Amino acid sequence: MFELMDIIKKRRSVRAYLDKPVENEKIKQIIEAARLAPSSCNSQCWRFVIAKDDVKEQIVKNGLGGFILANRWAKNVPIIIVACADLNFLTHKVGAGIKGIEYHLLDIGIAVEHLVLRATELGLGTCWIGWFNERAVRKILKIPRNIKITALITLGYPKEELKLHEKQRLDLKKILFWNEYGV
Ligand SMILES: Cc1cc2nc3c(=O)[nH]c(=O)nc-3n(C[C@H](O)[C@H](O)[C@H](O)COP(=O)(O)O)c2cc1C
Repeated sequence: MFELMDIIKKRRSVRAYLDKPVENEKIKQIIEAARLAPSSCNSQCWRFVIAKDDVKEQIVKNGLGGFILANRWAKNVPIIIVACADLNFLTHKVGAGIKGIEYHLLDIGIAVEHLVLRATELGLGTCWIGWFNERAVRKILKIPRNIKITALITLGYPKEELKLHEKQRLDLKKILFWNEYGV
């Protein structure tokens, strides 16, 4: 059992995977961590579609290929988790209208990070993919119009074991202010 901070430090974007299937039981455990995430008004707008086998191949071919050269690495991923937000929540619509905050994106972001950290704890690698062909993915998975596809997350056993490592991040003093912005 790892400490939370160790899991956070171990997680990194994994873009090379072993040719080894991920057990459905583990996928369920990972989604369970997302299920327990907090959300605005407890709306739980997240929905997850697991793309594997032929369906995953179609996403790799039509949803990531073409001019999106950056994600060519994904052609060998065992599983793609498609994170969606149900846009039918009145609280989200009101919130976006009055506050200008897209609450569904916050909710999905938290849930996916839960999922990703749980995957790390189980020895699995993940990588967020925010650059994909939404139209193609929607068509392949038959996702209705009122459901927004917010991110794809690759999942599989990493080629290289996940280790504690230094991350390239801004210094704390650049992002943490006390009582006044910038101070
Ligand atoms: C919302 C979001 C979208 C991302 N989209 C992509 C992507 O399309 N392709 C990719 O290779 N990595 C993508 N990443 C991974 C980031 O590049 C990566 O998290 C960042 O460089 C920090 O590296 P680390 O995850 O290894 O700590 C995305 C990450 C996030 C959070």
